[in-house]
Amino acid sequence: MPSLSVLNDLDRPAYTAALAHLFEHSPWVADETWPRRPFRDAAHLHAQLCATMRAADPARQLALIRAHPDLAGRLAQQNQLTPESAREQTVAGLSQLGANELASFQNLNAAYRARFGFPFIICARLNARPAILAAMQTRLANTPAEEHATALCEIEKIARLRLDDLLQN
Ligand code: GUN
Repeated sequence: MPSLSVLNDLDRPAYTAALAHLFEHSPWVADETWPRRPFRDAAHLHAQLCATMRAADPARQLALIRAHPDLAGRLAQQNQLTPESAREQTVAGLSQLGANELASFQNLNAAYRARFGFPFIICARLNARPAILAAMQTRLANTPAEEHATALCEIEKIARLRLDDLLQN
């Protein structure tokens, strides 16, 4: 497992490979942050990764948001999540839903996607199942711009927890 000093010394491809999974299916965030090294600590590295994400144009940010799986969605049902996503959904209690709850998630996922054109993003590891369902309902009333901004904030939280896992293991 890389310590920060090891990460700081990696060449660009190796560093990008080590951090690629922090932003779902979006290694460009890590790659384009490489020139900002050395990183003092996890918080500094995370802040620089987030700065790269926020400096990207809105279309690229939208592609990043769209790279996330639905919570309790089709990919989860078919065991096709990335290892990180599978863990996040399990921690949130989404891997063992009863039929009624599964239907609630699927209906809300569909309503959210129909309204905003991207999946509902919340840091699943920081929210239990009832909080996620409540947030899905309340956030449906927001504007697309508000939800784009909220999704980026939640992606930052997801990335921080994934980074902490990486540096601790
Ligand atoms: N989609 C909504 N929330 C999450 C999350 O916490 N992790 C992943 N991978 N996808 C999500």
